[in-house]
Order: sequence, then structure tokens, then C-alpha cells
Amino acid sequence: MATVTQTHIHQMPISTQPHFTYTPLPLPPHVKAEAFKDLGREVKGYDPAIVTPEQMDEIIEMLYRYSILLFKNVKLTPKQQYEMTLKAFDPAAQSYGHGNNKTGKEKASILHPDLKTIPHQPQVQLIGNGKVPGMYEGLDSPQLKHPHHKTFHKTPISQEDEDAGATRFYRWHIDAALYALSPPKVTTLYAVSVPKGAPQICRYDDGTGDEVTVPLGGTAFVSGKTMFDILPAELKSLAVRTKVKYAPHPYVWMSKAHALPTGLGIENEGLELSLDELPEWEESKVKLFPMCWRNPVTGHLHVQVHPCGAQALHIDPLPAGADRDHALYPDGGEVKDLKEVREILYRIQRPGIAPELVYAQDWDEGDLVLFHNRGLLHSVVGAFKEDQLRMFHQCNLAASDDPVGPTAEDVEIYA
Ligand SMILES: [Fe+2]
Repeated sequence: MATVTQTHIHQMPISTQPHFTYTPLPLPPHVKAEAFKDLGREVKGYDPAIVTPEQMDEIIEMLYRYSILLFKNVKLTPKQQYEMTLKAFDPAAQSYGHGNNKTGKEKASILHPDLKTIPHQPQVQLIGNGKVPGMYEGLDSPQLKHPHHKTFHKTPISQEDEDAGATRFYRWHIDAALYALSPPKVTTLYAVSVPKGAPQICRYDDGTGDEVTVPLGGTAFVSGKTMFDILPAELKSLAVRTKVKYAPHPYVWMSKAHALPTGLGIENEGLELSLDELPEWEESKVKLFPMCWRNPVTGHLHVQVHPCGAQALHIDPLPAGADRDHALYPDGGEVKDLKEVREILYRIQRPGIAPELVYAQDWDEGDLVLFHNRGLLHSVVGAFKEDQLRMFHQCNLAASDDPVGPTAEDVEIYA
């Protein structure tokens, strides 16, 4: 079982005179404005070259409050990006969020082909699409590949529909190794090169008819807080009592499996690798995380589960005196059947990715986005043609501690 320790807490009150200005993100017409009251801010006035520790404290505070911070027209070197990610959010962190230097059997990980490490700043990854001409940050003509849902979903959309502008959420996730390392607190994404193109229609294809218009190659976000807040009482009760056990080396474990059409979890086909086919692993490094992670600044609960890597659920019984009517798993227990695990997770997470709750970042070159990786889920969307060059710098760092779950008081309120 993972050791859960107190996370690094910033409890500075919002300064009465902030150093920067914070304005709501422009929202597309399909979203429910109410759900975005506390999600996303554009920060104006920030210069990464001259930021002070006090200014950085303010940014951290705002990130925990608003989950997504966007900075426009930024010039940021990989070193500045690394230092911002490290110093600001987790001074004790050391390695890239998925661990550096993958070797041997770990190369089977489904994440491996998507990332190119910048040699002089190995915690920063180059991601995107197309062949970069010439030398770039010490990489010789790196070939990038935007993940396409047809390589992961069981039932991809037809080429004809794709040509007409349809796409899918590739994979809803948290940036985290989910084995041995602790989930990064923040991910920084910096847009270097952004091909322009028509928006696409992102289809859910799960029988609901849901779909949402997304910018080409946008990054889609949903709030884990909203995901919790909109649940009916019996699912809130279950969520605060549940811990999620991840498979060892989950990205290798799921490397032959296929995703649901929503990108929110895995189809039950029995294609996961058996535990003895995995790279060497030990029980003490397997992650067992609360289903809800507590925001260290606001105290809000965020449903934070990477549905693809989940292997089992550990459910606590209802606390003494709690109302057992309509309660799910009132006596608690361990759910090991993958189909049942996935059904429970889907029931809890699917409402939170409804079209009116999705914000998709429409990138411009020079955009820097910081997102609270312990407070939301994200997914890439869209498909690029081979010659469309997209270049992003991504940085996140395995944290120095694991996320903290609901307090006894939270359980009292919701269970
Ligand atoms: Fe990601």
C-alpha cells in the first residue's frame, strides 16, 4: 500500500493586490458557464524571466483555485519551464512524471512513442506531430506523432467520418506513472508550433449522441471537482469511501487493450498482460490512491482516477450511524473483478465529461498552460495530417508525496 503523507500546503490568503490580472477563459457556447466559474483563468503581466518568489506563490495559489492558468505570448526556454515546474510546485521533486530512462520491458509502455526527451533538460519532453526540420534543442530532426484514437480505441471512427471532421477524445487521464512514483502536482505545456485548421466534432459514440466541437488538436479538460459535485448522494458516499488500486506498470499492463469510444477507460476484452508478463515489480510500489483527492488550498474534493490503469477498488464500510438506505457497498469490501471495477468508475466519471463540462484549449504559438494535474482530467483530441507540424514542450515532475484523500469530516458529510 502506498504511504499517504501530508501534501505540500500553500495556505497564503489571496493577496488584496495581486501582482497579475486574472480573467476568465473565453468559453465556447456549448459549455455551462456556471461550471466554469472556478475553472480556468488567463494570467496577464507575467514574465518568466523576472518572476519573484512572491509572484510565484500567487501563481501557485491561483492554480489550485482555478485549475488551469493560461499565459499568452510567452517566451520560455526548456530550462525556465523546468525551473518553474520544479521550484514553484514541488521543490523536492526530481524526475519526469513517468520516470526517466525507460529500458527493457518498460519500452512496451503505450506512452513511449509519444515523447521525445530534450537532451539538455531531460525533464522536459517534446511532443506533437510531424518531422521537425534540422536540429532542435539537441534533437536531430525528431519525428513526432500526435496520438490518434484509432491506435487505442476498440471501435475507431471511419476514415470517411474523420475526413468529414469527426474525432474522439483519445484518452482521459492524469499525467502519472501510477506505479512507484507519485502523481505530479502540475503539468506545464508550452506551444511552440501550432498548425491551424478547422475545428472538429468530438464524438462520444456511447449511445448518448453526445458530441462537442473542439479546436484542431486542442487539449480537452474537465474538472475533477465538478465531477464530484454533480454526483448523486449515493455515488458521493461511494467515492469518499473508495480507494483505487492501480496495476503495476499500468501502461505496459494495458498495452494490448483497447479503449472505450469516450476514451474514458478500457473495454473488457481480457487483453491486459498477466502480472508475470510485466517488467519486474514489487507490491510495495503498487499505488493505492483515494478516489477523491483533496485540494490543498480550497479543501474541495476532486474525483481523480485514471480509469485505464485501475485494477481493483478498496471500499470502506459506511461509518457508524450513516443511513444505509440506498447506500452502495454499505459494508465495504474489495472489488477485484475488472468489469465491475470499470462499471463503477464509469458511473462515477462519465457525468463529469458531459459536453457542457468540457473546456478545450485552442492553442496559439507562445501559449503556456499550467494545469493542476491533481484536480482535473485531460485528453488530447483530433487528428493531424503527416505534414502538419505541431511542437509542444511538456514538463511534469513526479511529486515528493502522494495525494491526500478525504478527511474524516469529509467522510462524515458525504458517506
Ligand atoms: Fe497528459
